[in-house]
Amino acid sequence: MDRRLALVTGASAGIGAAFARIYASHGYDVALSARRPDRLERLAEEISLRYGVETLTVAADLAQPTAPAAILDHLAAHGRTVDALVNNAGYGLPGLYADTRWEDQQAFLQVMLHAPSELAHRVLPGMVERRFGRIVNVASLAGLIPGSAGHTLYGATKAYLVRFSQSLHLENLATGVQVSALCPGFTYSEFHDVNATRDLVSRSTPPWLWLGADEVAAAGYEAVEANRPVCVPGAPNKAIAALAKLLPDEWVLALMATQGRRFRKV
Ligand SMILES: NC(=O)c1ccc[n+]([C@@H]2O[C@H](COP(=O)([O-])OP(=O)(O)OC[C@H]3O[C@@H](n4cnc5c(N)ncnc54)[C@H](OP(=O)(O)O)[C@@H]3O)[C@@H](O)[C@H]2O)c1
Repeated sequence: MDRRLALVTGASAGIGAAFARIYASHGYDVALSARRPDRLERLAEEISLRYGVETLTVAADLAQPTAPAAILDHLAAHGRTVDALVNNAGYGLPGLYADTRWEDQQAFLQVMLHAPSELAHRVLPGMVERRFGRIVNVASLAGLIPGSAGHTLYGATKAYLVRFSQSLHLENLATGVQVSALCPGFTYSEFHDVNATRDLVSRSTPPWLWLGADEVAAAGYEAVEANRPVCVPGAPNKAIAALAKLLPDEWVLALMATQGRRFRKV
């Protein structure tokens, strides 16, 4: 098999679907994973017609601890190894921590932390051996600023992905494997429909704060190709990330206390 393979999780919508198109446009075969097989099949057909690359689909629920191994086993059964991994699948869990069910938080941690960590751990040795690999962990601007009330573990899981990516980046400086954390701000996708905050965020955020999923994924692709460990797409998001670093934590936390309710359901 001549072409490289990119595995994209959460490829059935938004930023993941955009990443799949970008990798295909750069000549990669793509493996698309998410829970909705109909969406994956439709995208696979579009991509293979448009870019003439091979597509594989793997329906899997990353909340299941066996999913990462099952996805890679499926690819191995087709004789494929992963050259580029985009850990993108994710969602928000609204509400105050005390009001949510532990089962839901546990599933959230599985999807947001365990699955990306395990997928990276499983594909990395092969990448190092072949002296080529790309790993993009789709984190968030929320991982670069203090926490908010509501969606309690979201910022924490995204901060984890940023630190995880930075460590992997450093560990692989001489291996041919390039690793980046992509930290988008508000992005047009299904994200805010899935967590039922669309009306809230549409009312409270100006349009200039929003980017398209295609722009965000393109920034992520460029960042990992340039081997930049952290990428914040868009000038307003870059300014927010820089301010959060410059200002004392208490100030930003106080700002989150007043502003968080504008975009977080508590
Ligand atoms: N949109 C934003 O404003 C924004 C900002 C910063 C960061 N992000 C991050 O960007 C990433 C992509 O989100 P998006 O904005 O593109 O949202 P989206 O349009 O809702 O797409 C989310 C993707 O994740 C998949 N997914 C969700 N739960 C899953 C599970 N249990 N198992 C497998 N796949 C699952 C969904 O597919 P199925 O439903 O078919 O499983 C879908 O393909 C997420 O990690 C998100 O946290 C988004």
